[in-house]
Order: sequence, then C-alpha cells, then structure tokens
Amino acid sequence: MPVAPAAAQGRAKGFIEAAPVVRGEGGIVARKRGLITIANRLPVRQVGKGRAARWQPSEGGLVTALTPIVRESRGAWVGWTGVPGRAPRAFEHDDIRMRPVALTSDEVDGFYHEFSNRTLWPLYHDAIRTPEFNHQAWAPFVSANMKFAKAAASVASKGDLVWVHDYHMHLVPAMLRAMRPDLRIGFFLHIPFPPEELFAWLPWRKALLEGLLGADVVGFQTGAGARNFSRVVREFTEAQGTDTHLRYQGRDIQVNAFPISIDADWFETTSLSESTITRASEIRERVGAGRRILLAVDRLDYTKGIDHRLRAFELLLKRGDASVDDCVLIQVAAPSRERVAEYATMRTRIEQLVGRINGTYSEPGRVAVHYFRRGLSREEVVAFYRAADVMIVTPLRDGMNLVAKEYPASRKNAGGVLILSEFAGAAAELRRAILVNPRDLEGMADAMRDALRMPDDEARHRMGILRVQVKRHDVYDWARSFMEALKG
Ligand code: ADP
Ligand code: F6P
Repeated sequence: MPVAPAAAQGRAKGFIEAAPVVRGEGGIVARKRGLITIANRLPVRQVGKGRAARWQPSEGGLVTALTPIVRESRGAWVGWTGVPGRAPRAFEHDDIRMRPVALTSDEVDGFYHEFSNRTLWPLYHDAIRTPEFNHQAWAPFVSANMKFAKAAASVASKGDLVWVHDYHMHLVPAMLRAMRPDLRIGFFLHIPFPPEELFAWLPWRKALLEGLLGADVVGFQTGAGARNFSRVVREFTEAQGTDTHLRYQGRDIQVNAFPISIDADWFETTSLSESTITRASEIRERVGAGRRILLAVDRLDYTKGIDHRLRAFELLLKRGDASVDDCVLIQVAAPSRERVAEYATMRTRIEQLVGRINGTYSEPGRVAVHYFRRGLSREEVVAFYRAADVMIVTPLRDGMNLVAKEYPASRKNAGGVLILSEFAGAAAELRRAILVNPRDLEGMADAMRDALRMPDDEARHRMGILRVQVKRHDVYDWARSFMEALKG
C-alpha cells in the first residue's frame, strides 16, 4: 500500500518536540529530544533485485499507524527491508529517514518466520493455532533483536526518545538500555498480550519479560493486555508493584493501555476527493447497481476469521435472508507470511469456500462473493470503503484492528453499518457497531441480515457516533499520550 504523501498527511500535530535541534531565542542552539522508532519492518520493503530493485510500501496496521507519526516527528525509523542479506545504507524515502537492519537468511527464518510468527503470534492470539516451541529459533531471535538495538544505539543522540514496537522486539528495550542508559525507552505491543494461562507455556517467558522491563513505559492496546502483563511480570520476574507501576532493578516502569488509531483526517479527506467518489461509483456499478455491498478488507491471516465470515454469508443466503440480487460480499485479502504453513492452508480453505459459495449461489451477472487476493493502494481501499454499505470486521482475536476505524473515518455524510467482532481491541471503543461473536455463525448471519435491513436514519445515527470516537482519538492523540508518558 502506498504511504500517503507528506502533504496529504495534513497539519503539524505537535505530539513531539519538533526537530532534534532548534535555534533558541537568544541565538543559542538548544537541543531537544529526537524520536527513534524501531519496528521489524520499515514502512517500505525492497522488491526486485539488482537494477530492478525498488521500494514498495509494506502492508499492515503498524505501518499504517506509525508512518504519519514518524514523518511528523522527523525522527528515524529502524527496521528490516523484508529481504535477507545485505541492507542498503541509511536513506530517506517520502520524508522519512530509514535505517535498514540487515538480517541473514537464518535470522529471517528463526527470528521472523519461526519465533515471531510460529510461536509468539499464535500464542498471543488465544492459541488459535497451536504455537511451536522450537529451541533452535531462540538464538536467531536474540541475535536479530541485538541488531535492531545496536542500529538504534548508533543513530540515537544523547537523551533521545526511542519507541520500540511489537512482539518481534521483546528483547530490544533491555539490550538498548544496557548500551545506552541515557535514552528514554518506550515499548508498544500492537497485538494482544495473553493471560497467564497461555503466557506460561513459553519456555523463554522470563527472558522475554526481562527484555520488556528495560523500557520506561510499556504500552498495550487494551487494559486487559496491560493487566495480563503486570501480573505475569510479578509472577515470573523479580519486579514488584501494581497493575500500572512496576519497580525493577531500582527503576520505575509505567504500564498502561494506549489504544492505537489512524490518521482520521487523511481517510476523511481522501474519501471525499473526486477521484475516490468516481472510483466508488464505478465499483458499485461493476458489481451490479442496486445490490448492497458487504465489504471485508484484511491481511490473509487466520486470526482475521475470514473463513468464519464466508460461512456466515453462505448461511445468510441459504436461509433466504438475502439473495444475490440484493447483495454481494467483496472480500479483499492481502497475501501475508506465505512461508508459514498455516497461512498457506488458510488460503486454500478460503479459496475453496469462495468457490463453493459462488458455485451454489451465483447467477449470470450476479457473483455472490468477489474475492481479491492482493494488496490495494491505500486510496483504492478508501474507494471500497466509500462504496460499501456494510463493513464486516470479524477477527477471532485482534490487538486493535484499524480497518474498523478506517471505515467510519471514510464515511462522512454516507451512513453505512459496521459489524465488528467482540474480540477486536476496537470493540472497546466502537460500541455503536453491531458487535458479534465470530464463532457464532448464526449470530453473524443475523448481524448481516440486520445490517442490510437497518433503517437509514438509524445507520446514520450510529455511524455519526463511531465517527466522533475515531476523529477524537486519532493516531496523533495516541502518539501524544504515549509521548507524554515517555517523557516522564
Ligand atoms: P494487521 O496489523 O493485523 O494487518 P489492521 O487491521 O490493524 O491489521 O491493519 C491492517 C492495515 O492494512 C489497514 O491499514 C488496512 O487498510 C490495510 N490493509 C489490509 N488489507 C489490505 C489489502 N488487501 N489491501 C490494502 N490494504 C490492506
Ligand atoms: O501487529 C501486527 C503485525 O505484525 C504488524 O507488525 C504488521 O503491521 C502486520 O502485522 C504485518 O505483518 P508482517 O510484518 O509479518 O507482514
């Protein structure tokens, strides 16, 4: 997905003290603190080789959320390019200073595919898939974390703020503190943090927690995640304290929920542009004017509940609560982590389900499910949001889910109904969505039926409330509150 251009990202949001160096009133050069961001991925990934190599935007919620923040702060982004082997030197792209980290093939396998995505990812998402506990993957996880920590230490100036992101980087805060005790270090987890019953399965649980305890602030998407963390820390390490304040090795650590969000202004502005409106009408015409559009947009991940959603739609048609003359489901799914076997299995299952539903219910000119397995440009995603009457966001478990916020932000004066899983972090804020349990297929089919039949004034009223929430608590508000905590 292309990163929105700097101009489109709008006004200065003031969540961090501007540039690292400023000229004071008396002509004295005063130093202010810069912001270094560390995440597994850079906001761009390298595709192609040699002379054909080029940068393409990376997919996922972390990049969507952090891009405007890092650009605004004029800080640096430390991350991996998405390919093993040598990394290019530091460079600037679309107004962001990139500091690439080189990972060997063994590190990509052990650190990224194995430990991050076969152990932590499934375990932290309610063990929806059985996590693997492969001791061979620990050494590359440690060495990769050390590379990220060293890269950040090399670009940070004295007293800078460093913001470490997500489950791949568990060990970075402590490693960085050991190298650079002058830095203020924050950590934010984008995915759920599990309860003790699941976390305790990890053979490396103490080391992972001690890694995070290197931070001054540890942030989570929800209060439940923050509480789960504080409890396991007191259980498995020497840290003491309450759910929100821990004391460890003579230092204070703040623990809290900081629900992430989106650049709501950008989505609203983009949704109202002439090109988006034209494209949205084109999409509507192509799927058949007069048919209501149910839309889903996800990374192709087993946590997103895509198969459950398809089965619920099938049930809706089977029960006769809707027909292909009245409605169509559009599922856009961006390929993700395809080298992890569970993702390949998931893809096959989804494609078989789409085939089954279309085989049974489609009519000439009336395809039941339009399935696009590709990443779209951010602008194209907004055109789909603008075209959709009902947005279905039904993960089995999700840290937040930004799609649930992007849809309301893109619906100024347009109504529309959001169906949202109770198990997405976003459900804590978006209470006027139709909340569903994605494992209850009958309940989901009921929700689809109710959404399609909801009177327009009720849909507009609910959408108005969702929009206020998303606009008030946008990504700048999120960054500001985290930065306030981090500055101490
Ligand atoms: P995750 O971080 O697990 O991928 P989120 O819902 O929080 O989940 O964020 C996903 C981000 O990726 C959103 O900004 C969404 O618009 C974008 N996205 C998801 N699927 C696609 C797709 N098929 N094409 C383009 N963008 C997508
Ligand atoms: O937090 C979810 C996450 O792991 C983010 O790091 C990223 O936005 C997204 O999923 C995509 O994952 P990957 O970097 O593995 O492609």
